[in-house]
Amino acid sequence: MIVTTKKLFEHAYGKYAIGAYNINNAEQIIGLFKGNIKSQAPFIVQISKGARSYTSTIMLEGLIRSADAMFPEAIFAVHLDHGDEKTCYDCIESGFYSSVMIDASSESYEENVAISKRVADAAHAKGLVVEAELGQLGGVEEHVSVSESDAKLTDPDAVKDFVGKTGVDSLAVAIGTSHGAFKFSGSQSLHFDVLAEIQKRVPGFPLVMHGSSSVPQDEVERINAAGGNLKGAKGVDDNQFKRAAELGVTKINIDTDGRLVWTRVHREYFLQHPENFDLRPVGKVFMEEYANFIAAKNEKLGSAGQLEDVRKFLS
Ligand code: G3H
Ligand code: 13P
Ligand code: ZN
Repeated sequence: MIVTTKKLFEHAYGKYAIGAYNINNAEQIIGLFKGNIKSQAPFIVQISKGARSYTSTIMLEGLIRSADAMFPEAIFAVHLDHGDEKTCYDCIESGFYSSVMIDASSESYEENVAISKRVADAAHAKGLVVEAELGQLGGVEEHVSVSESDAKLTDPDAVKDFVGKTGVDSLAVAIGTSHGAFKFSGSQSLHFDVLAEIQKRVPGFPLVMHGSSSVPQDEVERINAAGGNLKGAKGVDDNQFKRAAELGVTKINIDTDGRLVWTRVHREYFLQHPENFDLRPVGKVFMEEYANFIAAKNEKLGSAGQLEDVRKFLS
């Protein structure tokens, strides 16, 4: 069942965070749904502009609708990740998405406000909800590339003004994470002090953490042992997710970790089966491993075991 993120956030606020997982193909979608059912968690299917062009919007929509029919127990939202203004309008018009992210964080504050407000007005008119971003994460996103030194933490003093002027429903905040597999050159630093200040300014308002893959070291080692080269890859400690949730984070974005599962499974499989050239055996292993990964991640987010309570909350 497709629902809005707004409803999911109401249920989660202050208690747990909902996993927002980026998907690109059928194997990921099947693994995602299986993992969430296995762990009894609500979740967010997240689609980037890159995924929309890789698989095509019509194919992705078909795959997700099919998964909804295959797994009728599932409760999830369908969300555009890091949209520019035009892509947000496309998704709003499509009637398929339940929420969009407008990412104008690389613009000036005033431009970010103006663009985010235009998208929020258009989305609300059609019953969709909107996430915007204030501050800048490091790393490479869809249409923006930010070096570690240029990344800007969210200014807590600007948050209330931004939310009030734009009317957005949730806000991605920069508190020290970054996109990709190389998040920290030194030791990890999530700025919980900044997050606590933000929550004080907008109590009860849903916050979002991007760039939250944990880049498990055993995964990196296995990839490297099977011919990869990801030396120095490092991520967020997922034992900190529950603390973030208590401070108002209701959505945590994870893409890179799923890509690592895919890479490890395929590298190891073909190393161990050099004679094999069939996509299905390795695809089966990936779907199983991806489902296990999702279920374990939901335990860290606190969303595991919430499904029946969410269903009651929605009825
Ligand atoms: O934040 C960006 C996400 O990881 C999506 O990545 O644009 O390569 O699909 P992508
Ligand atoms: P990761 O690169 O840490 O998985 O972040 C994904 C993300 O923020 C998608 O919007
Ligand atoms: Zn992101």
